[in-house]
Amino acid sequence: MVIIKTPQQIELMAGAGKILAACHRELRGIIRPGITTKQIDEFVDDFIQSQGAKAEQKGYQGYPFATCASVNDEICHGFPTFTPLREGDIVTIDMVINLNGWLADSAWSYPVGQISQQAEKLLKVTKECLYIGIEKAVIGNRLGDISHAVQAHAESNRFSVVRDFTGHGIGHSMHEDPQVLHFGFPHKGLRLSEGMVFTIEPMINIGSYHLTIDQNGWTARTVDGSLSAQYEHTIAITKDGPLVLTEQD
Ligand code: MF3
Ligand code: CO
Repeated sequence: MVIIKTPQQIELMAGAGKILAACHRELRGIIRPGITTKQIDEFVDDFIQSQGAKAEQKGYQGYPFATCASVNDEICHGFPTFTPLREGDIVTIDMVINLNGWLADSAWSYPVGQISQQAEKLLKVTKECLYIGIEKAVIGNRLGDISHAVQAHAESNRFSVVRDFTGHGIGHSMHEDPQVLHFGFPHKGLRLSEGMVFTIEPMINIGSYHLTIDQNGWTARTVDGSLSAQYEHTIAITKDGPLVLTEQD
């Protein structure tokens, strides 16, 4: 069941989104060769608390950290580690913020120093996939319109779309209906209506979309070792079009 939000409730979720966006803006200046994802995680946790909010991922179904930090071939749910990031790495930082019981969720992929042209292209295309999906998030469209637009853009660039993880409704809880697939058919699926709030969060691989899960039970990585990137926003469907609650600019 999709829980529809009032404009007032969307305002409150936007409050969480603003803090999240500010945190990602800070990370731009912090992520460079030598820093560890554990240090990034601690920075994020402190930043969120300093804003009077809470890192919702910590303790969620036993997840131990404030952030997911997924490096190179890690697709998502990477554990922060004490290994310094190296020039040429890419790292996705995913976090969920709880402000007074209302949540926002956003992941962003970052280059570490100078990265390869291929990696550069992966980041560019994956971010484009997110925004192309967001454009389709308008009243009257269907979920499949979003799914298909994301897939078409990724595959026209010869990248692949991860199948096993999806976007999701969000509100008082991190995962609500509906599921938002990043592949599928136009004009199919749930019709979008005012007050829906969900994430769009394509995970895009240079190689195949097949994945394995690490021994820790969480971390997904590409089977072929190819790079994977992800950009995620929390968006609301409004009369005036898609409202990005976690926009950074
Ligand atoms: N933020 C992730 C998402 O987009 C969820 C992470 S799972 C957690 O759905 F356990 F780390 F919280
Ligand atoms: Co997320």
